[in-house]
Amino acid sequence: MHQSVHVELGERSYDVEIGPDLLPQAGVRIAPLLPRPRVAVITDETVAALHLEALRDGLGSAGIEMTSLALPAGEATKSWPQFERAVEWLLSEKVERRDVVVALGGGVIGDLAGFAAAVLRRGVRFVQIPTSLLAQVDSSVGGKTGINAPQGKNLIGAFHQPSLVLADTSVLSTLNARDFLAGYGEVVKYGLLGDEDFFEWLEANGPALSSGNMSARVQAVTRSVQMKADIVARDETEQGDRALLNLGHTFCHALEAATGYSDRLLHGEGVAIGYALAFELSARLGLCAQEDPSRVRAHLRAMGMKTDLADIPGDLPDAAALVALMAQDKKVVDGQLRFILARGIGEAFVTSDVPQEAVASVLQDALANRRSN
Ligand code: GLY
Repeated sequence: MHQSVHVELGERSYDVEIGPDLLPQAGVRIAPLLPRPRVAVITDETVAALHLEALRDGLGSAGIEMTSLALPAGEATKSWPQFERAVEWLLSEKVERRDVVVALGGGVIGDLAGFAAAVLRRGVRFVQIPTSLLAQVDSSVGGKTGINAPQGKNLIGAFHQPSLVLADTSVLSTLNARDFLAGYGEVVKYGLLGDEDFFEWLEANGPALSSGNMSARVQAVTRSVQMKADIVARDETEQGDRALLNLGHTFCHALEAATGYSDRLLHGEGVAIGYALAFELSARLGLCAQEDPSRVRAHLRAMGMKTDLADIPGDLPDAAALVALMAQDKKVVDGQLRFILARGIGEAFVTSDVPQEAVASVLQDALANRRSN
């Protein structure tokens, strides 16, 4: 059932291994990268309790020793204080230039540990072992690393590609339903941005995937990673096509800011609501068929996911305030909002040519819908 996806980036190329029970095989898979049989693992306290011993055993069976640092779980960890703690810990563990750092966890740990590896002794190699669905299909692949600043998310960081990614699909069974579905929001995004057949496959297989069917999970993670790998190989540092991966993100960032980056809205949930709105906007601009946004929403609903603004608990600001929050997004170029819109399912494109009134009117209607529900 194991799959392997190659990310082709010249001398920075690497493989993403996908399948069940990869943690027990971590040692044999990581060993070829190591000049000495020792790795430093950065994880969080929740993931450590669930998976650190399995990783220790997996490494141990190939004679690899491991030291570990478990940071607090949660987005607040992607900060200077925890970053400093991680870097100083790596130095105190005497991690050398040729050693390998391992990130065991979700997006927060992968981003922070990857950034620590990027700056430690001017750059050491690292291996991603993503434990959330979101990290397996998105953040562990492509080399974006970093932490948040008081001014905004992911504003401090570096492109630093991992040397190997081990996406163990067995660990997904320890995720709660909400976190799983938030990650699934990113899986659906790949179908919507570039592969209608994959979206159709998800419409048919999403329920099996969510209820634990392993071969469906492996297939979905593999297709998502393949699509991400292709895009990253074409445009590693987001000068063009890589921005397609931000489908739904301009709306999402405004909603995340409006909800205080809190539990009211997880990132993957905001992305799903965001691309539903992006399809609505595309339909209103006459770019795609009227049926497309309904089809997107129907699938999200069928999966029990948050689909529109009415699904976000608590108050939201008005449309003008949401548009103002979008304008603070780091993807704004020369003051122009950049959107990923679609000519149909699987046909996304990047544009700065979007009338602000059209965006405000989509949000106004979505907010009105919310009040009438
Ligand atoms: N998560 C978007 C990207 O990696 O470009």
